[in-house]
Amino acid sequence: METKNFYKAIAPRPIALITTIDEKGNPDVAPFSFIMPVSIEPPIVCFSAAPQRKTLKNIRKTKEFTLNIPSKENLNKLWFCAQKYSGDNKIRDSGLTEEKSIKVKQPRIKACIAWIECTLDSEREYGDHVLVAGKVVEFDAAEDSALKTLLHIGKDKFTISGETISP
Ligand SMILES: Cc1cc2nc3c(=O)[nH]c(=O)nc-3n(C[C@H](O)[C@H](O)[C@H](O)COP(=O)(O)O)c2cc1C
Repeated sequence: METKNFYKAIAPRPIALITTIDEKGNPDVAPFSFIMPVSIEPPIVCFSAAPQRKTLKNIRKTKEFTLNIPSKENLNKLWFCAQKYSGDNKIRDSGLTEEKSIKVKQPRIKACIAWIECTLDSEREYGDHVLVAGKVVEFDAAEDSALKTLLHIGKDKFTISGETISP
């Protein structure tokens, strides 16, 4: 098999709808499944973005972002957020509702099931993506959120968690 397809073996992957704002204060939101926690103390989370992503441009300007973890109820709106967009408020136009974050300027997505507010720690280019590390400055989650997490298989295929098994 082609080695460039290795990432398809690391699936399904949790998704974060990452919210940012641009220099005018206009909010943006986009789904990312190349995400992972990398340190508990201090709390640090990473995600990987193609260099052309608006998310990356906004973070470079404002040094902040929020990971909003969606459930399956958000799937169609999430799909809208993955498309090219040229308006001034993708959150509103996707049908998602924003609410104030606790510690950072960009809004949270109300209907999500967990929220991780971050300030930029660092970024580093890896091949065709840029790895972004964020210091976690605020975290909230709905009860049982881990059982409702929407997972990405690839392209337009998704699945959900929901079953708990133990060794
Ligand atoms: C479920 C899902 C997961 C995605 N994960 C990533 C990702 O981890 N990194 C990335 O750069 N793009 C990812 N994308 C693509 C971007 O979300 C999408 O192309 C982007 O929102 C378009 O915004 P742009 O105009 O800022 O490029 C993903 C798309 C979907 C549907």
